[in-house]
Amino acid sequence: KKGEAWSARFSEPVSDLVKRYTASVFFDKRMWKADIEGSLAHAEMLAAQGIIPTADLEAIRGGMAQITAEIEGGQFEWLLDLEDVHLNIEKRLTELAGDAGKRLHTGRSRNDQVATDIRLYVRSAIDDITALLTQLRSALVDLAEQHADTILPGFTHMQVAQPITFGHHMLAYVEMFGRDAERMADCRKRVNRLPLGAAALAGTTFPIDRLRVAQNLGFDDVCHNSLDAVSDRDFAIEFTAAASLIMTHVSRMSEELVIWMSPRVGFIDIADRFCTGSSIMPQKKNPDVPELARGKTGRVYGHLMGLLTLMKGQPLAYNKDNQEDKEPLFDTVDTVVDTLRIFADMAGGITVKPEAMRAAALQGYATATDLADYLVKKGLPFRDAHEAVAHAVRTCVDANCDLADLSLEQLRAFSPLVGEDVFEVLTLEGSVAARDHVGGTAPNQVRAAIARVRAQLAGN
Ligand code: ARG
Repeated sequence: KKGEAWSARFSEPVSDLVKRYTASVFFDKRMWKADIEGSLAHAEMLAAQGIIPTADLEAIRGGMAQITAEIEGGQFEWLLDLEDVHLNIEKRLTELAGDAGKRLHTGRSRNDQVATDIRLYVRSAIDDITALLTQLRSALVDLAEQHADTILPGFTHMQVAQPITFGHHMLAYVEMFGRDAERMADCRKRVNRLPLGAAALAGTTFPIDRLRVAQNLGFDDVCHNSLDAVSDRDFAIEFTAAASLIMTHVSRMSEELVIWMSPRVGFIDIADRFCTGSSIMPQKKNPDVPELARGKTGRVYGHLMGLLTLMKGQPLAYNKDNQEDKEPLFDTVDTVVDTLRIFADMAGGITVKPEAMRAAALQGYATATDLADYLVKKGLPFRDAHEAVAHAVRTCVDANCDLADLSLEQLRAFSPLVGEDVFEVLTLEGSVAARDHVGGTAPNQVRAAIARVRAQLAGN
């Protein structure tokens, strides 16, 4: 008579196929800790309010301690017949604690129970992800510091644009991951509200104390409408959207790492422990980790779309559709956590090749804008300066040389304003050092930005 959870109302057992179809225990059992935590807080409140005897609370606590030991020890028997994590734990509790176990569900429904569990689960995922973002940011800041002066070409349209420093480039990602951490913190505010007490949908007839439960579980507030409390999954969507943006940033970075590591470009090497070889081509060392991260970004986006679609047609309040929120959510957490962990580690395994970066920056007239700015500072209107330099570049393209290779006389042919001091602005070092304002690529600005981020990271 295992697992007849619905009892008297039913005249025949649920078919095996339907049992398997409706069961969620094989994926929602990962919320067991949150489920027990939520149940203990609920029981504590029931006892404090005189809804159950104190002796029952003690029996429930004892039973839950035993169940915790069984789950942690791998001896807990999860039964498909008992549908989900909630019923599995409750059934075992009743075996261990008798009637006290049967009283636990007083004033509660699985609808508010599951909503509470997911919020506890997502809250702890947010805390993990936030810590990992901090690790990744500080690893990138370290890399930025080592290369505050290392020059590489900055690109627009994948064409050499202007010289930048590698430190500055790394700090761009530090900014992105910093916004991701802010988004996680903001999302956490809305996650951190207690649904318990909403019961099935309308609340309960028992004199419950929701604020007490909220406080015990570390929630900032309760959900203020019972219908909304059991049926809202906005917080899961919001979390997955923030996770998607993290993956967007990881994916952009991955794309760059792959390009930079290509032998054609050769800007960086990635430590062997993050790469794999080819089963046929002995010479290969492939950047599998960034490629896979770029690929996994797609699955997180898919989960976001899945969750949005899951919600759009649901009338109030709880519907079983909501059970489908878990797998996308769990997979999002796993993917983001694993990816951030690996990237934080991999950042330390990136070897920068300054000569290759420098050589690339010297091709493609990266200092053309500097020459135009130089002419402007000598009094030429910017549009005229732009035109004069365009002519100079055209000449260099035909002659297959760099702007700095032209003689002073050749340069003067494009504008008589050119003087001896022009060659300083045509150097890569002069170009980056001149962009000396907040947010600019000048090495001393990069160092100032590093100090700012470090102070911020230390404050976390
Ligand atoms: N496993 C269910 C879920 O994930 C728990 C809530 C079930 N409630 C219900 N009325 N069937 O949503």
